[in-house]
Amino acid sequence: MHPATAVSSRHGMRNVKLPSTDMGRRLRATRVTPTSRTGRPLFRVLVTGRRRADGVTGDAMRKRTLGRSGLEVSTIGLGCMGMTDAFGQRPDRAAMIPIIRAAFERGVTFFDTAENYGPFANEELLGEAVAPFRDQVVIATKFGWNIDPATGQRLGGLNSRPEHIKVAAEGMLRRLGSDRIDLLYQHRVDPDVPMEDVAGAVQALIRQGKVRHFGLSEASVSSIRRAHAVQSVTALQSEYSLWTRELEAEILPTLEELGIGLVPYSPLGKGFLTGMIDATTTFAATDLRGRIPRFAPEALTVNLGLVDLLARIAQRKRTTPAQIALAWLLAQKPWIVPIPGTTKLARLEENIGAASVELTTDDLQDIERTAATITVQGERYPEELMKLSGR
Ligand SMILES: NC(=O)c1ccc[n+]([C@@H]2O[C@H](COP(=O)([O-])OP(=O)(O)OC[C@H]3O[C@@H](n4cnc5c(N)ncnc54)[C@H](OP(=O)(O)O)[C@@H]3O)[C@@H](O)[C@H]2O)c1
Repeated sequence: MHPATAVSSRHGMRNVKLPSTDMGRRLRATRVTPTSRTGRPLFRVLVTGRRRADGVTGDAMRKRTLGRSGLEVSTIGLGCMGMTDAFGQRPDRAAMIPIIRAAFERGVTFFDTAENYGPFANEELLGEAVAPFRDQVVIATKFGWNIDPATGQRLGGLNSRPEHIKVAAEGMLRRLGSDRIDLLYQHRVDPDVPMEDVAGAVQALIRQGKVRHFGLSEASVSSIRRAHAVQSVTALQSEYSLWTRELEAEILPTLEELGIGLVPYSPLGKGFLTGMIDATTTFAATDLRGRIPRFAPEALTVNLGLVDLLARIAQRKRTTPAQIALAWLLAQKPWIVPIPGTTKLARLEENIGAASVELTTDDLQDIERTAATITVQGERYPEELMKLSGR
C-alpha cells in the first residue's frame, strides 16, 4: 500500500478517511531516481502539497505520549534548527514561517528550537510562526550554552548555573511570545554545575508556571538518574538513527524504566539517510557536516551501505529512504518521537508521510540483519563536540 493511503493503527496517521482524490492531491509522491556523479542512484520524492480542503488543521496525525509524563505530541515533530542557521545556509526567514504553519496544518504539534540556534533568531522565528495557534502546539527549547542573555553573543562553553537558567528562560519566553515553555531541555550537561542544581532550577520554573516539562539532551545514564530524582524528566533528546545507535545499550532501557520519552534528533542522519548525499558530495565551509568524520568520503563509501539498505526496503514498500529511516525509529518504541528538520515543503510532507509507513516484523528483521553487517565509519561529531556528549 502506498504510504499516502496507508492508515496505520500502530503509529501512523489517525484513521481519517479522506476521499482518495483529495488524499492523492495532498500527498502525491512520485519516486524518481536521479543518478549522482558516481552513478549511485539518489532518491528523491516530489510531493504535491495542498492545504486540506476541509479546513481541518493541527490534528490530522496520530499522537504519542512522551514517557509517563502525559505530554502528548504528534508522532513526528519538526526540528526548526536548520531554518536559521545550520548546514551552511541561512534560509529566507519569510519562507520559513509558511513551512512551520504548513507543518501544523498537516498535523504536526511538536516544534523544536533552542536559544543557541541563531542564537535567539530561531526562537523568535518559531514564536512568530506559531502565534496563531500557540495553544494547540508543544514548543520545546533548550538552555545550556554560555550565551549573553542581553546580546545573544556566544561567550564560549556551557553555562547551566541556576541564575543563568532563570535569566535565559525569561529571554526564551519573550522571544517565543509565550507565557510558558512546554518542554525545556538542558542542551548539554555542564560538568561545572551539579545536575541536582540544574533540575532544581528548572523545578522552580515549573512551580512558577513558566515551564511545563523538563528534558535533557545527550545526557549519560547517571545524569538522567540524578536529574530525575529531583524533578521528573519528560524527555531525553539525543541523536538516534540507523547510523547512530549507541544509546540502545544503556540509555533506552533506562528511559523505559524511568518512563522518560525519547526525542531522536538528526533522525535522518543530518540528511545522510535520505539518499541525497554520497561520497562525491561537497559541503560549504560553514556546513558542520564538512567537519564530521562520518561524512568524509572514505567513511561514506562504507556508510552508504545503510542508504542502500534503506533504499531497498523503500523500493519494496513503495516509499522513500527518508520515510523508512523515520518509520524504523517509530517502530523501536511507542514513546519515541523523531523531529526531522527541513526547510522545504515537499520534504516536510514526505517526512510526515513516514508516520503512515508500517514496517512489518519481516521488514524490521531484514533491516537488523543487513545493518548488523555494516560497521559505521567515523564519529558523529568532530572531537571537540563529541566530548560534550554522554556526560
Ligand atoms: N539536541 C541537540 O543537540 C540537537 C542537535 C542537532 C539537531 N537537533 C534538533 O533536531 C532537529 C533535526 O536534526 P537535524 O536537522 O540535525 O538533522 P535531520 O533532521 O536528520 O536532517 C536534516 C537535513 O536533512 C535534509 N532533509 C530533511 N528531510 C529530507 C528528505 N525527506 N529528503 C532529503 N533531505 C531531507 C534537510 O535539508 P533541507 O532543509 O534542504 O530539506 C537537512 O539538511 C534539528 O532541527 C534540531 O531541532 C538537536
